[in-house]
Amino acid sequence: MRLCEGRVAIVTGAGRGVGRAHAMMLAAHGARVIVNDLGATLQGDGNDPTPAAAVVDLIRKNGGDAVANGDDVSNWEGARRLVAHAVDTYGGLDVLVNNAGILRDRFLTNMTEDEWDAVVKVHLKGTFAPMRHAIDHWRARHKLTGEPVNARIINTTSISGLFGNPSQANYGAAKAGVAALTIIAARELGRLGVTCNAISPFAMTRMTEGLGQITPEQRRLGDPANNSPVVAWLASTDSQDITGRIFRIGSGFVSVMEGWENGPRFDPIDDAAALGAVIRTHIAKARKNTGPKGTPLD
Ligand SMILES: NC(=O)c1ccc[n+]([C@@H]2O[C@H](COP(=O)([O-])OP(=O)(O)OC[C@H]3O[C@@H](n4cnc5c(N)ncnc54)[C@H](O)[C@@H]3O)[C@@H](O)[C@H]2O)c1
Repeated sequence: MRLCEGRVAIVTGAGRGVGRAHAMMLAAHGARVIVNDLGATLQGDGNDPTPAAAVVDLIRKNGGDAVANGDDVSNWEGARRLVAHAVDTYGGLDVLVNNAGILRDRFLTNMTEDEWDAVVKVHLKGTFAPMRHAIDHWRARHKLTGEPVNARIINTTSISGLFGNPSQANYGAAKAGVAALTIIAARELGRLGVTCNAISPFAMTRMTEGLGQITPEQRRLGDPANNSPVVAWLASTDSQDITGRIFRIGSGFVSVMEGWENGPRFDPIDDAAALGAVIRTHIAKARKNTGPKGTPLD
């Protein structure tokens, strides 16, 4: 069964890795796809139209419909052009998959301003800017028809942001921001008929290839395409009732993430010197923060 017949979808960073797999699967489900990719290095330098063009060729070879777009999603005008590309080519936009990303890992003791700015810009502004321009399109459509637009935003976060990964303060902070942005957008956009969810993917790509020796089983579990069925379903009209959720796609499982919630509470205390004992008592009663695997630290 084809889930996205006739829908128009943008996938950012779709020239390789996880985004490429999303674009291929959306096209296989009948979506017309804007394959966006700047063609940057892992660190975000340079540009190259070849990866996006190759994905478009492959989709067309498989009988699908796609066009390439080389705009930088973290550039305001670039993001505007990207959304306009979808509207001009296919007459509208139904699905925005924000996936583009870069890495500049460094421990905080040595992280430079450039390393911080570049990573936060691509992940956080590179999610916000396409969203903002897509929302303009959907708001105009909603105004015209008075009907819910049945549109989708699917963002990409990471366990680095959800659980906290040392050496990735820039990346993790941006990805935690993407998770918050997803929840806020879901609350704001429901009235237009736009849902906003996020995935936290897992895949063997150039982003993760430095993780050491990989067994055939790990390679199978790390196939980027394992992340795409959830995206294809979220992109479909069937998912209208699901919004503001984050799906962690792990190594052989999918988990619905649960967010921050109030823990043990106490009445305000004016005397700061008395707080130590009270805070320790309540911390002892609180659930622990999650560790790198997503379960509470021992
Ligand atoms: N691979 C994983 O296990 C994993 C885990 C958690 C999160 N993620 C996230 O998944 C997404 C995809 O990661 P991947 O592993 O496929 O990486 P990747 O490096 O293989 O692909 C990312 C793509 O984004 C493109 N890109 C970078 N900056 C861009 C920009 N400004 N505008 C347009 N395109 C740009 C790159 O050219 C590249 O093709 C990223 O957001 C990443 O943070 C990946």
